[in-house]
Amino acid sequence: MRQETSQVIDLRSDTVTKPTPAMREAMARAEVGDDVFGDDPTVRQLESRTAEVLGKEAALFVPSGTMANQLAVRCHTEPGDEVLVEANAHLYYYESGAPAALSGVMCRCMNGQRGIFSGADVEAALRPADQHFPRTRLVCLENTHNRGGGKNWPIEQIREVAATARKHGLQLHLDGARLWNASVATGVPEREYAAHFDTVSVCYSKGLGAPVGSALAGPRVFVERARR
Ligand SMILES: Cc1ncc(COP(=O)(O)O)c(C=O)c1O
Repeated sequence: MRQETSQVIDLRSDTVTKPTPAMREAMARAEVGDDVFGDDPTVRQLESRTAEVLGKEAALFVPSGTMANQLAVRCHTEPGDEVLVEANAHLYYYESGAPAALSGVMCRCMNGQRGIFSGADVEAALRPADQHFPRTRLVCLENTHNRGGGKNWPIEQIREVAATARKHGLQLHLDGARLWNASVATGVPEREYAAHFDTVSVCYSKGLGAPVGSALAGPRVFVERARR
């Protein structure tokens, strides 16, 4: 029997969601302006609302989650630095070698359980402060974890990993492409997750139904660096 398109639930990916009629209407009616001059009120509103939800000073609207993640890596690091990341993280596994290609950094992979790792894993992956080694600079987490089957990080474990990273002077980035899902599932507000990280990327194009779009949020100076 032939079904109406609206009744079909396409489970290939949450990225195949389509904008609702109300969203299309909002897009058609959106006030627009020159973004370079900061004249686009709609983009400005989206960025400031995203920053507010995440409890960060500022946010930058970008076309994709990949771009948000890779901008974060690029702005947190210098060539030759090392980034600690879980072996199945999108940022490492699915982003076409971009940390090496765009930022000139090495990724040191930790083996998590469905994407989740511990402070002890971070400690074990650290390099000694010695001129022979890359400088460990950044720890990246992903919540919810895509290749972990949508696994949600327990907030206490985020706290533990973040405390370990801070103890060693490392920066923290959260790939929160599906942070909305984590928040809905646990009742923990997005900003409470985000508080443990310097920067957070989020996607409007997964689950929320937007056809495209992501953001990178963090301190104002960091976001200005990313914009540049
Ligand atoms: C966890 C995670 N981060 C980042 C991305 C990249 O998003 P985009 O496809 O918008 O580049 C994805 C895409 O599925 C993802 O699952």
